Amino acid sequence: MRFPEQPTDADTLLARLEALRDDDADWRAGRCFALVYSAGEAHDALLRRAHQALFSENGLNPMAFRSVRHMESDLVRMTADLLHAPPEAAGTVTSGGTESLLLAVLTQRNAAQARRRVKRPEIIAPTSIHVAVEKAAHLFGVRLRLAPLRADHTVDPEAVRRLINRRTVGLLASAPQYPHGVIDPIEALGRIAQAHGLPLHVDACIGGFMLPFIEALGHPLPRWDFRVPGVTSISADLHKYGYTAKGASVLLWQDTDWLRHQFFVSTEWPGGIYASPSLPGTRPAGPIAAAWAGVQALGREGYLDLMRDALEARDRIRDGLRGIEGIRVLGDPPGTLLAFTTSERSLDIYALADLLQARGWHFDRNQSPRSLHLTVMAVHRRTAGEFLSDVADGVERLRRDPSVRSSGTAPMYGMMARLPARGFVRGAVLDAMVGMYGPEPRDPMDSEPQGWMDRAVQKLGGPLLGAADRVGEVRDRLLGRTP
Ligand SMILES: Cc1ncc(COP(=O)(O)O)c(C=O)c1O
Repeated sequence: MRFPEQPTDADTLLARLEALRDDDADWRAGRCFALVYSAGEAHDALLRRAHQALFSENGLNPMAFRSVRHMESDLVRMTADLLHAPPEAAGTVTSGGTESLLLAVLTQRNAAQARRRVKRPEIIAPTSIHVAVEKAAHLFGVRLRLAPLRADHTVDPEAVRRLINRRTVGLLASAPQYPHGVIDPIEALGRIAQAHGLPLHVDACIGGFMLPFIEALGHPLPRWDFRVPGVTSISADLHKYGYTAKGASVLLWQDTDWLRHQFFVSTEWPGGIYASPSLPGTRPAGPIAAAWAGVQALGREGYLDLMRDALEARDRIRDGLRGIEGIRVLGDPPGTLLAFTTSERSLDIYALADLLQARGWHFDRNQSPRSLHLTVMAVHRRTAGEFLSDVADGVERLRRDPSVRSSGTAPMYGMMARLPARGFVRGAVLDAMVGMYGPEPRDPMDSEPQGWMDRAVQKLGGPLLGAADRVGEVRDRLLGRTP
């Protein structure tokens, strides 16, 4: 596509835009177990109006747009109240969970460098921590030390303790973590953090606007928020279970002594003195306005209703999955995230994923253990029955026709999860991304698993294998198939 010479009229453009959306995931119909959180059409309409009202404003300069600063401050205070933060707590609205986590790590590092002159900083987090923490470590020159999980997928606090040394600048854990939906032992970690004088960040990006309402509905939960001594910061995403427009999360600190290490100030730039509270320069005001309106439009009562419905959907799906022979639900997560897998070797979970995807369901694929992830919301009450019957049909189909597992994307996912040479997987994914973002963008759905795998096997084992005719055999072994 060339740069347009002539203007195009609005109706034509909007019609083209709608046509482009034809193949998008159908979240309105409740077939998306990830990516989109909606509290219904009426609520979304309000979010759109509030977003629109501040469509042009820029949160970068709080002096020019005092309204944005006001709304941001309200959002921080409302979230602090919900999460039982002390009166001294302070924070910022960010563009999402990833930015909140990047800033949490950056601030832990900056504080330790300022207070203790730590040279080669390290942070400690469970292997299940959101990958944005790995991204933060990568970006900010911090070493990420991963602590293993216990059988229930929560982190082992003793393993965390053993990883602490004088270079440690902070601990992180999740409430709940994304892949399996369980809450890490925050109270035990808080004691460890306090004993070593370290900050503890709780990633409640997904739980921040979920767990408080589950607790209020009378379900017992382990403590995880600012009531736990030793918790110094929490991230909570408005654009997840806060049901607001995308581009809004809150990062809260126990007090401003922590928050000040998050800020960036430059005094020498020819363009003037520059101060920025978070990662971006220009900050869209729309998501802040939508969140400000959205949280108040629902209020505690609205969130409780939504959570009651989401829990009902979760129970129906979880119990229904447990009733399907060949399916196993992982553990018993306290929130509305679920992960399930197959309980028989011959049933490939990724092949089941392909069958479900072909019927329009959208969800994530976990690789450890191999399972499918569902983020359950109120909307899924409507579609729980249909989903369960599609899972049951899928299992039947896999039993009848085992060849399904060698078609579609299942072999590729299976191999990616199993391949010990992670460097190769990384290279292959990078290649795929370059294909998608390069000058002649490839459709993201265009994958040739078989060719991809054969190239992987050749690259990895070529020199050792010698003969090209063994490639297929090795590929089958890696896939767990008997040649
Ligand atoms: C626990 C947790 N933390 C952080 C994130 C990152 O959030 P975002 O995608 O808004 O950057 C997610 C996203 O799913 C999450 O589940």
